Amino acid sequence: MSEEVLRQAPLFAGLGEDAAATLEASMTAVSLRRGEVLFNEGDDGDQLYVVVDGKIKLGRTSPDGRENLLAILGPGQMFGELSFFDPGPRSATATAVTDVDMRSLGHEALSPVLEAHPGVANALLHQLAGRLRRTNEVVGDLVFSDVPGRVAKALLDLASRFGRGADDGVHVNHDLTQEELAQLVGASRETVNKALADFASRGWLRLEPRSVIILDLDRLQRRAR
Ligand code: CMP
Repeated sequence: MSEEVLRQAPLFAGLGEDAAATLEASMTAVSLRRGEVLFNEGDDGDQLYVVVDGKIKLGRTSPDGRENLLAILGPGQMFGELSFFDPGPRSATATAVTDVDMRSLGHEALSPVLEAHPGVANALLHQLAGRLRRTNEVVGDLVFSDVPGRVAKALLDLASRFGRGADDGVHVNHDLTQEELAQLVGASRETVNKALADFASRGWLRLEPRSVIILDLDRLQRRAR
């Protein structure tokens, strides 16, 4: 199972069985407990990581100590590649949201893979382009959207990756505290809680600890626009 998840990562895009097995053998298993920090923004680092199980949050801290979450990554997703393509310190802090299993690959091992397999380079460019698009959208939303709209959008994004369809709706086990949800949306916890309570009172969702059940996907999608 973990091998299947690992091979969904862009790093394995288009590799034949032999090349994929060689690449997998050169990776190292890394486990983190919930809350453990893998690396801090500003650290030197020469590894990239693929999440096999669990969730990682990538965040930045302002000089006065406030935190902003850039992304929540789950199984099959990769991070730590920016300091390879643009050598320099880590651009964000990586922290385990749950217990996490990952595989790491040294940056020095990546160059030969990219040279021998252009499909992998294409897949990594595709991932970077997707992140730039998403970042542009987030910046636009910070300027143009209100907090409830941003909360709705963040919930839909989490649902697209962690959601599971059931009879009563889409169960999204995001594993985030309300504080972390607020950091992801870029608003205060109070404002985000108010938006969530409003959605719940309209019957669009049900709140549970570290998870949400989306009952009316259509209305939430319209609110996210
Ligand atoms: P690196 O800078 O090596 O370490 C932090 C990692 O966080 C970075 O590589 C990217 O892989 C990841 N990262 C940084 N910014 C974003 C973002 N906006 N969206 C998703 N991942 C990001």
